Amino acid sequence: NAQAHISQLPTEIMLRLFRYLGPEDLCRCSQVCRSWSELAKTGSLWRHLYPVRWARGDYYNGPPADQDQEPDDDWVKSCQKEGLAYQERDEDADVDESDVSGQTDSYKAITNAQREKKLLNDLIHHLLPAVGGSVKSIVLAYSSTVSSKMVRQILNLCPNISLLDLTQTDVTDSAFDSWSFYGACHSLEHLDLSGCEKISDYTLKKLSEPPPGHEEASGVHLQAEERPVTGDGCSGLALCRIYTLSLYLRMCSAVTPPAAACLQQEYRTEHSKRSLRFLSLSGCYQVTDAGLRSLSQRGGLPVLEHLNLSGCLFITEVGLQELVSACPSLKDEHFYYCDNINGPLADTASGCQNLQCGFRACCRSGE
Ligand code: FES
Repeated sequence: NAQAHISQLPTEIMLRLFRYLGPEDLCRCSQVCRSWSELAKTGSLWRHLYPVRWARGDYYNGPPADQDQEPDDDWVKSCQKEGLAYQERDEDADVDESDVSGQTDSYKAITNAQREKKLLNDLIHHLLPAVGGSVKSIVLAYSSTVSSKMVRQILNLCPNISLLDLTQTDVTDSAFDSWSFYGACHSLEHLDLSGCEKISDYTLKKLSEPPPGHEEASGVHLQAEERPVTGDGCSGLALCRIYTLSLYLRMCSAVTPPAAACLQQEYRTEHSKRSLRFLSLSGCYQVTDAGLRSLSQRGGLPVLEHLNLSGCLFITEVGLQELVSACPSLKDEHFYYCDNINGPLADTASGCQNLQCGFRACCRSGE
């Protein structure tokens, strides 16, 4: 039918078309009508979030690039310049932004940072409450405006996140205050805290805590799922996050007591395991052996392959040794720590990376 209107296409086809769109176009589409607005809030369209890049006009929304790839130098420098300009503007309350004649570099820097802050707030208040359960990765590296409170809100709204990149941001330990409560760290595979100078052992402790209930094997598993809903009260394909209480113990009670105990144990192990494969604390100079010890406890980090402790000035070979013995999957070539420590795998580990990095703590900076 040559007269067919786009609104007559089945929602499945519309969703397929929406998959070709980036975040900016999806937001535009969501303003067309109510059903498009619902459709644009489908979780599978929002798996990978890059608010810092989006605020600067780069609307990539595919999976994160190779983790060993260094970011573009000019990009990093311009983000740092923007952060500085934004902070200076904050401190000087008398500056009248409307009075800026001409687009000077610092004006552009400030508007980029402001755009980023607004985008983050919109994300937290309008998008994540609908799609948070489907979000897999959030890259906030080099953000000049992300706060600890925002990270806390993001983690609460995205319980199934597997990658979080906070490289060179100003976040503090309080970003992870409610972390173990929500159990986010149990799906987390990649955590990059490079250059987060305010992060201390407290965060590592939080990272190591099982969510409440898992120690006691409550047997109740909270699961988020997403499915299209059609029918009364829900037009078209709407995102509907349904929390299912899977009453595991009921299943256990149907079998003999020893078998039930065995199933409970299996459940406990499965849901308290740590899936972290990549951890960078490069430049987190406040971290000590006590923090490393928390990571080594309760089964350590069984699948950790990449560990960067460059610039952690207070750790010693004792803490390193303890942690390494609890990380059986660690790869020598992806293991970094201060060149002055004669620690584990000294001959094969990759040494300190912060020597090349002018803006992270390193005992040899300036040599
Ligand atoms: Fe010692 Fe970098 S922290 S060489």
